[in-house]
Amino acid sequence: MTRRALDALLAGALLLLSAASLGALVSPAGSADPGSAAEDAVLRAAYRRPAGPPPTPADNPTTAEKAQLGRRLFFDPSLSASGTMSCATCHEPARGFTDGRKLARGNDGRDLRRRAPTLWNLAWAPFLFWDGRAEGLEAQAEAPIEAHEEMGQPLDALVGRMGADAGWRATFATAFPGEAQPVTRENLVRALASWERTLVSPRTRFDAWVEGDGSALTAQERRGLSLFHGTAGCANCHEGWAFTDYAFYDIGLPARPSASPDLGRGPVLGLERADHAFKTPSLREAMRRAPYMHDGSLPDLDAVLDHYAHGIEPRPDLPPELPRKLTLDAAQRAELIAFLATLTSPPDAPLPEMAMPPAATPVAVAALAPVARARVSQRNRQFAPLRAALSSGGVLEIVNDDNTAHNIRIDSPELRLNSGIQDPGQTVSWRMTKPGRFVAFCGIHPRMRLEVTVAAP
Ligand code: HEC
Ligand code: HEC
Repeated sequence: MTRRALDALLAGALLLLSAASLGALVSPAGSADPGSAAEDAVLRAAYRRPAGPPPTPADNPTTAEKAQLGRRLFFDPSLSASGTMSCATCHEPARGFTDGRKLARGNDGRDLRRRAPTLWNLAWAPFLFWDGRAEGLEAQAEAPIEAHEEMGQPLDALVGRMGADAGWRATFATAFPGEAQPVTRENLVRALASWERTLVSPRTRFDAWVEGDGSALTAQERRGLSLFHGTAGCANCHEGWAFTDYAFYDIGLPARPSASPDLGRGPVLGLERADHAFKTPSLREAMRRAPYMHDGSLPDLDAVLDHYAHGIEPRPDLPPELPRKLTLDAAQRAELIAFLATLTSPPDAPLPEMAMPPAATPVAVAALAPVARARVSQRNRQFAPLRAALSSGGVLEIVNDDNTAHNIRIDSPELRLNSGIQDPGQTVSWRMTKPGRFVAFCGIHPRMRLEVTVAAP
């Protein structure tokens, strides 16, 4: 058989494979009939809220004092060069922590490149910004203060001024007890991140339904949920109780004509195939957050549904998670929108209490015996197993038995590895010689995490 014939055959086999598994993706509720008690049970399990935010990073445990300081900083206009702009200018609590503008407007009065995203439920987000260029909330927080177009304030100058102020010194000292010089840029960023971690979107009627109150949703809203989770395919990406998988997709929004179009995740990963991909936003509190999308291009939810139904720009590398040829009649559109509204708290609802995340506690896990070759699956966007231990020079073999492309990376100071795009059917094999403990993740679906330990020779 020629190479080309073999390739064609393989491609055919892959296509079959993806068609079969995509069926499962598009209808995750399985065979349960829409509206049936069996479907209720599937949905209630899929959307149950966690008890609270996940544990914090070990080097920045949340305390009430630190979160309070972060809250104060967040609302304080003295953080900006002009003295008129706080974080809350662009992230207004009453607007779901956005600003109601198509594009955010910076300290110098000019439009920024992107819309202000919501800050709800970021404690779970592995990467921040629409393009995921910051890892963790601490890394993110420095950016807007210093960014010339945003708040335009050199952090060192800001910290210098605060350090000279007895009031700020006392507040920082309460938040960071035992430190001789608590007013530092690191602590300022830690406090902001701590407050942001407590922002867990409020409970709504939908949560009451999930917890068993069948009368909490109307029949129309309940049908909207079936559509959202089933045939409309929204839950392929807006997954779980926060309605996001924190992953990056090109959903086919038309690129704005520009000399330097916003390519999103692609340039961050150095992968053309991830061009036009942006982070899936949480849909909690979405009714307060119009206009929508990273570029604010869609004014309301009707326009969002128009986009998913017939506005998708047919770029060649749209992800398999994105349903094509979605048809929704007028009744179904109304059902979907009615359902989405149940994820938003009433207009006059107060902000929920800060949700305090637990400190990271090292969990004792039994060490794995190192092996010469470990094989890892990625089905359903999950590594399995979640840990691999290799002997020195052992081979880590990561198989893409999923129906979507991945990009496996290790990004630690001692070891940087990058698979590039790994299409379904492809296997990445890495010979691991550097001893240590590493985390492999997918650049496109970064909640996928694999712990890899490599033994010393
Ligand atoms: C001038 C408006 C503006 C101000 C002021 C501002 N932001 Fe933002 N913020 C934005 C925009 C726009 C983005 C998206 C930028 C991007 O994705 O490239 C963003 C993104 C973020 C994100 C990432 C959210 C996500 O979903 O990944 C966080 C967190 C955040 N801002 C927190 C803050 C904090 C804390 C402050 C104050 C120190 C602040 N912002 C000040 C406009 C602003
Ligand atoms: C392939 C993954 C995927 C699917 C499927 C999907 N979305 Fe999205 N959704 C996204 C991403 C990514 C964005 C942000 C895109 C951007 O700004 O470029 C988004 C944005 C949105 C927004 C705007 C939120 C905001 O804060 O701007 C809404 C509302 C929304 N989607 C609803 C839906 C509905 C309803 C469906 C089903 C009809 C759906 N989505 C299907 C990935 C998806």
